Amino acid sequence: SAVYRAGVVGRRPAVPVAFPDLERAARRRLSRVAYAYIAGSAGLERTDAADTAAFGRHRIVPRVLRDVSDRDLSIELFGRTLPTPLLLAPIGVLELARRGGDAAAARAAAAHGMPFTISTQASAPMEDVAAAMDATRPDAPRWFQLYWSSSRELVASLVARAEACGCEAIVVTLDTHVLGWRPRDLALGYLPFSRGLGIAQYTSDPVFRGLVQERMSAAGPREHTPVTPAAVASFASIVRHHPGGLRESLRSGEPLAAVETFLDVFADPSLGWDDLAFLRERTRLPIVLKGVLHPDDARRAVDAGVDAVQVSTHGGRQIDGEVAALDALPAVVAAVDGRLPVLFDSGVRGGADVVIALALGARAVAIGRPYAYALAVAGERGVRELLRNVVAELDITLGLAGVRRAADLDDTVLTSRR
Ligand code: FNR
Repeated sequence: SAVYRAGVVGRRPAVPVAFPDLERAARRRLSRVAYAYIAGSAGLERTDAADTAAFGRHRIVPRVLRDVSDRDLSIELFGRTLPTPLLLAPIGVLELARRGGDAAAARAAAAHGMPFTISTQASAPMEDVAAAMDATRPDAPRWFQLYWSSSRELVASLVARAEACGCEAIVVTLDTHVLGWRPRDLALGYLPFSRGLGIAQYTSDPVFRGLVQERMSAAGPREHTPVTPAAVASFASIVRHHPGGLRESLRSGEPLAAVETFLDVFADPSLGWDDLAFLRERTRLPIVLKGVLHPDDARRAVDAGVDAVQVSTHGGRQIDGEVAALDALPAVVAAVDGRLPVLFDSGVRGGADVVIALALGARAVAIGRPYAYALAVAGERGVRELLRNVVAELDITLGLAGVRRAADLDDTVLTSRR
């Protein structure tokens, strides 16, 4: 009702309420490179389209004359009660959306008590993001998203830092061991990364700095080494098949040792299930596996002793033609059979989408691009308002559906077609 009341007294919204308008407004604000990076996805962008379209195959069938005056959006996750089932998905290079973007988005999440997931690819060190959250609300929940590096020392260092700055979960993203084929970025020469915008988490890390030093002393002070075979393994398709892209922009770039070291260590395409033991031994924090779409992998995740899986297509940014995240959700939920919470992202654009994902068995739902766009349009205030709008629509939809508690949602509230 606060949202409507603000409208009635004539307060203008900081961000457009409808997602298509928000996206358009962000596009006007952003540089071509920034918009391409944020909006773009893999190939012909079929999975991105499918992620949002999948919600249209489920319709809510409301129940009437149920007392829904006292609605409860809270959920339990990892032993904590969260005020809503909303999370902020990890988004790298938020500096592209707005200067100081990581801290601004994190503060907005903190104001709502929603977990903010700090990306390995953030454009600010995690300690700075955490400090910004602490200044807003000292116990504001934050998680750390890990890209598993080919340097295990670096993995251990990032995780130790995440613990030290109060992160309450480690989200291991498993769908980015090779970077997806993203035509919009390729057409523009992959500028965000060649400018080093997404490597603050690395350059602020003692282990990473040691690796850079090693590279510089091996190469001599002036000369820089070309992209190495290890980099080819992680950014393989891009570097090898697209000579006009990353490799060229690196050659013409600024100090390159850090960017090249980043390319070397960014990912470990050889990662297997057994490697998870390394992480389990190093942290007592809950481990979330992000990017699980196959029910067999969900079962393996249970066996591996992790604490949650996150069904996600990475916003359609990795495989063109991949199954839509929402279409993969029910089978994953069935496979884990209540043994782990299932988290969800990809294609969520409003509160009604949240209701549908929860009804299909998600415990909590992460928002991606909408908050990046809100950040571009109106900074911290924009993200705060965007999140408030999603919560408002969720609350309204829940009440109109005749469901009192978000945690009680199940598929009896839906009619679904293929
Ligand atoms: C992402 N995503 C992402 N995921 C991750 O684990 N680490 C990261 O650094 C990033 N970076 C990133 C940058 C940008 C610009 C986007 C749009 C996405 C994926 C993200 O966490 C989430 O899975 C998707 O954004 C969800 O899809 P929607 O909501 O954007 O459609």
